[in-house]
Order: sequence, then C-alpha cells, then structure tokens
Amino acid sequence: MQKRILLICSIIVGMIIILTVANPKSLMVITTMAQEYVNGYVNDDSRASDKNNSQNNKPGDNKQEITTPKDKNQKDGQPQDNPLAFENTTTIHKNGKQIITNTDSLLVLVNKKRNLPADYVPGKLVIPNVSFSFPGEHQKKYLRSEAAQALEELFQAAKKEKLDLLATSGYRSYQRQKAIFDAKAKAIGVEGANRTSAYPGQSEHQTGLAMDLTSTKVSGQLVEKFGELKEGKWLKENAHKFGFIIRYPKGKETVTGYNYEPWHLRFVGKETAEYIFTKGITLEEYFVQVHDYPQI
Ligand code: DAL
Ligand code: ZN
Repeated sequence: MQKRILLICSIIVGMIIILTVANPKSLMVITTMAQEYVNGYVNDDSRASDKNNSQNNKPGDNKQEITTPKDKNQKDGQPQDNPLAFENTTTIHKNGKQIITNTDSLLVLVNKKRNLPADYVPGKLVIPNVSFSFPGEHQKKYLRSEAAQALEELFQAAKKEKLDLLATSGYRSYQRQKAIFDAKAKAIGVEGANRTSAYPGQSEHQTGLAMDLTSTKVSGQLVEKFGELKEGKWLKENAHKFGFIIRYPKGKETVTGYNYEPWHLRFVGKETAEYIFTKGITLEEYFVQVHDYPQI
C-alpha cells in the first residue's frame, strides 16, 4: 500500500517537473490553483458571517465594509466608486419626467431634474445611535444602515471634540415630503418654497441617505447660522472623513438649485466624499466631471 502511494506521489511530482520544464508558466498556474483552493474556504466563512449579520437590523449592528468595484479605467486620484452610466440611471415617464432607476445605489443622484418613484422606500432603514433634537419614535429618525453607521462614527468623533451636535431629520417618505412642501408653498408660494424644500420625489431624504444636523446653540433649528458655529465649521471640514458631503454648499446655489444648507449631510461613501471635498465641487459637478454625465 505504502509503495503504491509513493509511486503515485512520484508520478505527480514527475509530471509537475516535466510540465514546468516544458512551460514555466504552468508552475504559476498550479500555485494559483492551490492558493484559490485554500482561499475558497476563507471566503466561504466570511460570507456565512455576513449573512448572519444581515439578519440583524438594529442600528450599529451592520458593520460590513462598503466596497465598490474598482473601475478598470480608473485614473489616479479618482474615487473608486463605480456608478452606472448616466443613461442607465433614469427612464423617461410618459409625462416627460426623468424617473430614477438606480434608486438603491449609494451614489444615487436626486435633484430638480431627477425624480424618485413615488412608491420608492429604501430597504434596511435603522435608527442611528446618536443624539436627536427630539424624543421618541419618528420616521425622520431613520437612515439607511450604511449611512446610519457612518453617522454614528461622525458623532463619536464630534463628541471627542466636545461638539454639541443633534440629528433632526433623516428619512422622509414621498407623502411626508409632499405634506412639508405643500405647507411651505401655501405659506410663501411654490417658487420660494422650492428654494429650500424639494418637490415630492426630488428629495434626498426619501433615499434614507441624508440627515439634517443642528445644535442646541441654535435651538435645534435649521438655520444658516449653524454654519458659523464651530459645529457647522467642523462638519464642513470633517464630514467627508465619514463618507458625507455638505450637499448644498454656499456659492453653488445655481448648480444645486437650492439655498445654502450647512446642515444637510448626504452619505456617498468615503472615497467619493473625499474627492468631492478636495475638489470643492457638488454631487452634480462630480457626475459631470468624473463620470461624463451631461450638464445636469
Ligand atoms: N431641503 C432639501 C432640499 C429637501 O427638501 O430635500
Ligand atoms: Zn435636508
């Protein structure tokens, strides 16, 4: 028996030597196959634990890393996120409106031209474990889990700086956005209302990726003065480290279509946020400059 095993082993080793001499690349192929065999077990283990994690929807329990595929044509210094080509992100409704189709993308672009479907509700909405400006349960406490986890990290860093930050408005359903917009339009007219409030379907809050922040120093209100507080200044300089951008910056009102909102954070992931911060651009400009979208 032992002799037979020895013979089989000798034949295999002999074949490897002959193959290697005939074609040196075959040794590399054999080594790679062996590595993949070993790695296969490792990856299957981590997939199993991801599955277990995803069954638990409590805030802070979904600790998976957010990774996006690397674009093969990626140039140095550009972010690694790989959003869909422009033409694959909307369809034109018969009423002429652009309706967003990549609704679940962390890089979804929602603005005055690009509408979310009225019935769109993001999956995996959770309440981040951060301080809010109001007590109790409310729809507006929710965020998508990726954004919720990032917001918790941002609040932990802000606490170390002894900053007084409060979360005040996150996820908003289409119906709630409609009620908010209609009330504002009734008070100051449609045009004025749309400088600060989005039409239903055009609000990032419906994606669960946006959160408005405030401070007790401005009585929990959403006012421009928040941008002058050390809380607002810190957010402007640091939000990108946690994957957020200030979505409606000062001086970019004609690009975004909205007044300056130092309080409105939008989650886009760390790499894209860092790119947008470093270049001093808006999300609209990012898509035009980096992903060749037409002027939006
Ligand atoms: N205030 C922002 C534009 C919204 O209503 O979504
Ligand atoms: Zn907002």
